Amino acid sequence: MISIAEESTRRIRVRFADGQDGSSYRTEGMFRGEYLQTFFTPGEEGSLCLLTGIGEKDLGILQLKELGAVCVCRLKEQGVSKFSVDVGKILQAAEPKALCHLVEGMLEGWYEQPVISGNGKGKHWDGEKRRNAPDVQICGIPGGFREQAQRELELGVTLGNAVNWARDMVNMPGNLFTPNDFAEEVAEKMGEAGVAWEVLDSAEIRSQGLEALQAVGESSGRDACLMILRYLPLGSDVPAVGLAGKGVTCDTGGYCLKPADSMLGIKGDMAGGAAVAAAIYALAREKVQVNVIGIIPMCENRISPSSLVPGDVIGSYGGKKIEICNTDAEGRLLLADAVSYGVKHEKVKKVLDIATLTGAVVQTLGFSTAGLLSDDEDFCREFSRAFAASGERYWRLPFYEEQERMLKSRIADIKNLGEKHCGTITAALFIRAFAESRPWLHLDIAGTAWVDTPLFAFQSKGATGAGVTTLYRLMEEEAGI
Ligand code: BES
Ligand code: ZN
Ligand code: ZN
Repeated sequence: MISIAEESTRRIRVRFADGQDGSSYRTEGMFRGEYLQTFFTPGEEGSLCLLTGIGEKDLGILQLKELGAVCVCRLKEQGVSKFSVDVGKILQAAEPKALCHLVEGMLEGWYEQPVISGNGKGKHWDGEKRRNAPDVQICGIPGGFREQAQRELELGVTLGNAVNWARDMVNMPGNLFTPNDFAEEVAEKMGEAGVAWEVLDSAEIRSQGLEALQAVGESSGRDACLMILRYLPLGSDVPAVGLAGKGVTCDTGGYCLKPADSMLGIKGDMAGGAAVAAAIYALAREKVQVNVIGIIPMCENRISPSSLVPGDVIGSYGGKKIEICNTDAEGRLLLADAVSYGVKHEKVKKVLDIATLTGAVVQTLGFSTAGLLSDDEDFCREFSRAFAASGERYWRLPFYEEQERMLKSRIADIKNLGEKHCGTITAALFIRAFAESRPWLHLDIAGTAWVDTPLFAFQSKGATGAGVTTLYRLMEEEAGI
């Protein structure tokens, strides 16, 4: 629970301060107000104060999220879950929107990943029970700001919860979060938020001709499915934006098996799908007036008697025949079908795809910046505004005909592998070949979806919830907010 209070009734209060403020508290000079420095000091009338340094730099979105996270982390370490946060100092230095980012950071900083223990039967994971949510009073809001502050606080709660939900799904072990579990989990949340959903099972995948998804899905004893989320507050006549997210709950590489030391993160290969579901959940919760269709192919990439092998040729929903050159390049196959399905079946006006797609993007951009490719300048401008509003980082990569030529197959229409270099670009171009000339934007979050060593205070080892807030802000842009 995070709510606005006129007066704090809590014994423990967080206050933000800079270098100049240090001397007004009893800190014996030890608190210097440096960015993210924290210091416990006696407060008024027997209370305790956690001073949190804001430093001298401008407070951007990332800084506000880190500030929110660092103070709750300090309190959580001490076993404190009821406290107040005085945001007066922050609102002197930043706009009221700061409250949204601060609250989002608080919720993300408080996050704990699912732990599976005990001998319970049935559903192994109960997110609600696990998380002992903090009880926070926000105070220090100037009178004139109350209404706006309330809205920003609520949005921060929605976004923080959506990001943490995506993190939960990505952190779940692959054997306890199969394609079917993934679909059930998303269906439950969509039901809660009032979003219509549909799941095509493996028989429907076959009968509808989603042959690329089918081919990857048949590598596993666990059936594949295609989940479609339809959030259409403007009515079904108004064209929607398509969001396709890769939902591979376990990627062993198939017959092109990954080496053992690359296997640890393979359960996180559904982070794109999780981001799409979580963003749509947040949009529905906030009643943003925009039509969106989420398309999430869910499957495993494993080894079975019917798995693909290099040299195979398969069909696809879009009609192109695909030569398989590497079975570990499975994400682009599912997304090809998801994107075609969005365009041909759902008639989306433009399409974005998001995926943990290539190791190459990690080599190029590392763990804090995701890759972006697009063939539409307007879509790109919109997207740039969206990530400026979310605080996430993306970097646009170029593409040219010579890279398109790398996907030419001698025996089929296209192959699923380029050359040794520019792997992020050729993977993206493969998907673009199925977008049927609709404005297309592609996000490769293989580096940003998962961190072994957190880079920011609001992250913890494991899933980051990459993409959720940017997709939300992109749809706000679409809605003209
Ligand atoms: N899911 C992986 C990409 C990935 C790599 C995600 C590292 C997270 C961290 C994808 O399916 C894959 O295996 N891609 C291959 C493609 C290659 C065979 C052309 C890769 O990038 O190595
Ligand atoms: Zn793979
Ligand atoms: Zn993969």
